[in-house]
Amino acid sequence: MSCFIFQSPVKVIYGIDSTRAVGKEAANYGKKAMLVTGRNSSKKTGALSKVVDSLKENNLEVLIFDEVESDPSVKTVRKGTEKAKEQGVDFIVALGGGSALDAAKGISAMCTNAGDITDYEKITLTKMGLPVIAIPTTAGTGSEISKFTIITDTERKIKMLIGGEAIIPKVAILDPSLTIMMPKNVTAATGMDALTHAIEAYISRASQPMTEMYALKAIEIISKNLPKAVLDGENIEARQNMLIGQMYAGFAFSNASVALVHAMARPLGAYFDVAHGLANALLLPKVMEFNRPACKEKLVKVAIAMGEKVDGLSENEGSFAAVKAINNLFLETGLPKALKEVGVLKESIKDLARDALESGSVLFNPRKPSLEEIINIYEKIY
Ligand SMILES: [Fe+2]
Repeated sequence: MSCFIFQSPVKVIYGIDSTRAVGKEAANYGKKAMLVTGRNSSKKTGALSKVVDSLKENNLEVLIFDEVESDPSVKTVRKGTEKAKEQGVDFIVALGGGSALDAAKGISAMCTNAGDITDYEKITLTKMGLPVIAIPTTAGTGSEISKFTIITDTERKIKMLIGGEAIIPKVAILDPSLTIMMPKNVTAATGMDALTHAIEAYISRASQPMTEMYALKAIEIISKNLPKAVLDGENIEARQNMLIGQMYAGFAFSNASVALVHAMARPLGAYFDVAHGLANALLLPKVMEFNRPACKEKLVKVAIAMGEKVDGLSENEGSFAAVKAINNLFLETGLPKALKEVGVLKESIKDLARDALESGSVLFNPRKPSLEEIINIYEKIY
């Protein structure tokens, strides 16, 4: 077995109403917090006031930065960083979906690292950012425990993958009750994002025993619980399991990377604002069909984790069963099924494919794709 690194310095606090722990945890990191969140949903659901109350009960000063859009931009990170520096905040509390968490991680990094966030597109962040306490309100991105953030450069139409130990949150608070309010389509898309993290990490060229263990368990949990959470948003058991499953997927991909699905999903977001989870969901079945010849043995294990009966099947048949199970799960979510349904223009496919091929995530894909092959996959799901 070759050497490997598995890194997870984050303290995980899990449970219904664990949000109440935020003030006590935060008091370890200073006196002044910047609370980074989206424009609406955390206010509507009452999550924001829960967090603010807990911080204030612990005598902490709170500056709210509620300007994070979906797919946070370079501009938002710059603005948040400027405010945080101006006000001399000690740490950051991130509340929301992947966008709020990613923006908060970007702001945290740029409060301590020199230059602009765009300088770190291809360079690992080295200087530790301001401490981040991350509280996800969706079950999908794993951003609360991962070493990556995705920031969109709207001028260049690029989703930058920025990473490093420096931006792993200090504390992740996973409170399933915050995910109850998630609408059906967001539950479906973020859940498919988590499934994609788990599957891509599992078949990644950088996978190793610990990431494989987390990835397989995540695949099992997510495939069992995502349809239930989509069908009945108030199914608290499914919500609890989804939050655990997506975290396991986060541990797996944070250490083993994602691959071709994510490489192809990012340009869809950058060019056409296709939500990240939805883009992954659309791509996952066809990319797995493409990858299948290069990872049949692993796909048999994916099939088993997804509850498929593979006894008596050959490796070839078992790997087909996995691709079929992935596609069935995708269909069950009720998400749009074609790129043309989500505003993608056919004439852009070549540009999308070029950007996808340039992404670093392609390097971890079990099968090396050519430009034509990537174009072909986009066309198949158009
Ligand atoms: Fe993702």
